[in-house]
Amino acid sequence: MLLFGLVLLLTLEEDNYTPEIKILNRASIKLLALFFFVPYIKIMSKITYIENNGKEHKIEVSNGLTVMEGAVQNNIPGIDADCGGSMACATCHVYVKEEWFNKLTKKEDGEEDMLDMAYEPNKFSRLSCQITVTDDLDGLIVKLPTKQT
Ligand code: FES
Repeated sequence: MLLFGLVLLLTLEEDNYTPEIKILNRASIKLLALFFFVPYIKIMSKITYIENNGKEHKIEVSNGLTVMEGAVQNNIPGIDADCGGSMACATCHVYVKEEWFNKLTKKEDGEEDMLDMAYEPNKFSRLSCQITVTDDLDGLIVKLPTKQT
């Protein structure tokens, strides 16, 4: 689709058209090209997963997925996600970098309860299956615990 959009932009010069048709043609081609480019503008956010040994994984995660799903789809070691995101296992526990923690949506009661069962939770702990990736979280950094429960 990206290539098709580029081809449309390159066809702007049509010498045989009247000036009015040229203007309309250019406007409609630009609108059409914009339509094709919109999906590429901002549908991914960069999430950094830091393993407990310090190894970093910078991953582009589709907006709308959870931080857990981004990890699982990209084979990030250290997020087990045994329950598949139904907030019933706490094996997707992460420590959110302090500067990002307050930008997240608030925890639900159930998440707090599950975090009590996580391995060494702290005040920056979250279940990554409860963090939905959005544009606002582009650049989010999470650290993985030594182990999952
Ligand atoms: Fe089980 Fe998040 S995947 S609580």
